Amino acid sequence: MAYTRVSDANEITARYMDSILIEERLIDSVKADVSTTILGETFLSPVLTPAFSHLGCYDGREHNGLEEYSMATRECNTLNFVGMMENDMFQKIINTGAKTVRIVKPYADNGKVRDQFQFAEAAGAFGIGMDIDHIFGMTGYDIVVGETMAAQTTDMLRSSVESTKLPFVVKGVLSVADAVKCKEIGVKAIIVSHHHGRLPYAVPPMMVLPEIKEALAGSGVEIFLDCGISTGADVYKALALGADAVAVGRSMLPHLEKGGTQGVVKFLNNVADELRYIMSSTGFSKVSEIDDSALYQY
Ligand SMILES: Cc1cc2nc3c(=O)[nH]c(=O)nc-3n(C[C@H](O)[C@H](O)[C@H](O)COP(=O)(O)O)c2cc1C
Repeated sequence: MAYTRVSDANEITARYMDSILIEERLIDSVKADVSTTILGETFLSPVLTPAFSHLGCYDGREHNGLEEYSMATRECNTLNFVGMMENDMFQKIINTGAKTVRIVKPYADNGKVRDQFQFAEAAGAFGIGMDIDHIFGMTGYDIVVGETMAAQTTDMLRSSVESTKLPFVVKGVLSVADAVKCKEIGVKAIIVSHHHGRLPYAVPPMMVLPEIKEALAGSGVEIFLDCGISTGADVYKALALGADAVAVGRSMLPHLEKGGTQGVVKFLNNVADELRYIMSSTGFSKVSEIDDSALYQY
């Protein structure tokens, strides 16, 4: 077969994930329990929603996509994430009753960062955090919807962590170096991610995950992962390689657009059901017990 070069991290990630295979262990296995404790609370499963932003109202429905998927997480008791938005939109997310982590952009305007963190905490967010993989753009610092981003030093991030009583989550960690810095400044969880391929040739999150897991062993820092996750098999592989919870991404969008809140409920439940099936078929009865011993790579 001819060799084709690809620089698209999404495609490289998909190829890597598909190269991981799963063996069966059926004798003495039982129906698995997918419930999971994340940052101290128990949820239906380790499946998280992605930190999305800028979704409109689909099919003229009353609530926009961000509210609709947040309502879905409330209905099926999963941990919700949202991304870049102003405070009035975040209030609407909180009004859905979803347990939500607000991921704030690394705005150059540090006053805006602080304001959004403080607003989230006062409004009742479950956690707050920052997507550090959105700092740089091709001409320097990225500009997102007219807002310029800024470099984040360890001291700046430490000060953000110390500014809140909420768990602080750093999204966009793709190296042991950044993971260790997060551990040292008191971050409660990291999301191993390349933000749907912002970096050409980005290492697949699942490839770097075992090294990150080892570097954070015993620290209590929880490890989440996203990018290219669309099935329970994807979630299983990430858990087996060291993640504590795993976020779906653009795979959720067709279900949201077509089915709204109920479409997302069905999708999240299907992913959790497939995870349960694979756990049961590989001899793991609890999420916390899954390891990589049933994985093969070709
Ligand atoms: C429409 C859209 C908006 C997004 N907005 C944000 C955001 O504001 N903050 C953030 O951290 N990530 C954002 N992301 C990235 C996702 O949280 C996630 O990292 C990514 O979609 C995972 O890759 P996948 O879609 O291939 O699974 C956004 C993604 C999409 C598709």
